[in-house]
Amino acid sequence: MLAAGQGTRMRSALPKVAHPLAGRPIVRHVIEAARGAGVGDVVVVVGAGAEAAAVRAAAGDGVRFAVQARPLGTADAVHAAREAAGDAGGVLIMNGDVPLVRADTLRRLMAALDGDGSDLALLTASVPVESYGFIELDGDTVMRIVETKETEGLDRAGARPINSGQYAVRADWLWARLPAIAPAPNGEIYLTALAEMARDAGRPAVAVWAADPAEVRGINDRVQLAEAEAVMRDRIRRAHMLAGVTIADPPSTFIDAGVRIGPDTAILPQTHLLGETSIGSGCAIGPGAFLRDATVGDRCVVRFSMIEESTVEADVDMGPYSHLRPGSYICQGVHIGNFAEVKSSRLGRNTKMGHFSYIGDAQVGEDVNIGAGTITANYDGTRKHATTIGDGAFIGSDTMLVAPVTIGRGAATSAGSVVTRDVPDGAMAIGAPARIRAKHAREGQDGAQEESAAD
Ligand code: UD1
Ligand code: CA
Repeated sequence: MLAAGQGTRMRSALPKVAHPLAGRPIVRHVIEAARGAGVGDVVVVVGAGAEAAAVRAAAGDGVRFAVQARPLGTADAVHAAREAAGDAGGVLIMNGDVPLVRADTLRRLMAALDGDGSDLALLTASVPVESYGFIELDGDTVMRIVETKETEGLDRAGARPINSGQYAVRADWLWARLPAIAPAPNGEIYLTALAEMARDAGRPAVAVWAADPAEVRGINDRVQLAEAEAVMRDRIRRAHMLAGVTIADPPSTFIDAGVRIGPDTAILPQTHLLGETSIGSGCAIGPGAFLRDATVGDRCVVRFSMIEESTVEADVDMGPYSHLRPGSYICQGVHIGNFAEVKSSRLGRNTKMGHFSYIGDAQVGEDVNIGAGTITANYDGTRKHATTIGDGAFIGSDTMLVAPVTIGRGAATSAGSVVTRDVPDGAMAIGAPARIRAKHAREGQDGAQEESAAD
């Protein structure tokens, strides 16, 4: 997989193949297509410069790397992988910047070497020739590849069979021919020269047609990046819809490649499902939901809300306008209403947090009622502190829980209380700063009863 080029047309500090496409680095899509086609051993050719670290990170685990000392062209890049390729009998050469190619298509490309005596097969489709290399064909026999960039007076909007940069090649033939390629006028050594060599040797390359012309599209600049993004997103949405997910307004729904969604879930307009998000079945997500690396159980409702790096069990409803920040764990049956923020906290089963609250660094039990305006004051200006709230506790409206603090099981706080000390099980905290009383004192306290557990 060739990924050592500079990608100058992106005009970016980030190497081209590390740019995200539907939530994954471009090169990762190419690697996955190769794996899907049964390629077990992937060698990614990276440069020797500082930017190579970003390419390596983008390619991820489970691949090997070969270093091309200087970007002397695509044939030189393949040569850099000679040692890593070992004695493999066949090589699939892929451009790291052609991410829409499908596994099935690559399988057909590799199969084209079987039987018919060709040493080289290359993938093509007819698309506007732009800056690609195009193929001169005689039937499906390849005569040569011509770089559009180096051809004067060509209609670049006109469709031609282009060179996708994906090749299947017999290894012994490849390794024998590579050193014989003469440099182009710009000093680069072009892999595309192999096509002419094969023809001249009397065993011409064979062209394999992609099922979908989008598969051969490369990404050289950000216009092509956006075009590829549109194609990839459309594919992802279609796959979910065909698997039983309702998507009310596909154009306003953005779903990353790593997202999983159960059947009979509806994704409503203006929704972003990003990263490694996983959603159960029977949910209604959106309108206006933004989920990143979220795990959501069955039958959840998430309206106009944001969930980041958090887990939500089944039967949770949330929103509008609430936010789960990283490290939150929301148990089954929880209700999170309007303008609630939860960070690095656990909310136990059936707990209700209806209105205007912040819960951070807290362990909250089951069946707790968190009154409107409740805040965990978890930060003292230097350090973060924890709050614990026991099962069945009742936190009155506008309670300030000054951490570290523990509210016992079945305990209560009065409206407007500022709790600076632990409240034992079944006790009641009243006032600012709060005094602790026995629970029955709750009767007759204005405010404490204002907030019902129901709503
Ligand atoms: C190349 C092909 C062109 C084809 C197009 C398909 C050549 C000479 N041209 O053109 O026929 O239509 O791809 O998208 O092969 N790379 C290296 N080391 C290098 C140079 C490039 O690793 O020294 C890598 C790049 O990172 C990239 C790939 O090879 O992933 C293709 O290089 P790029 O410069 O984008 O070639 P194109 O001009 O697109
Ligand atoms: Ca390219």
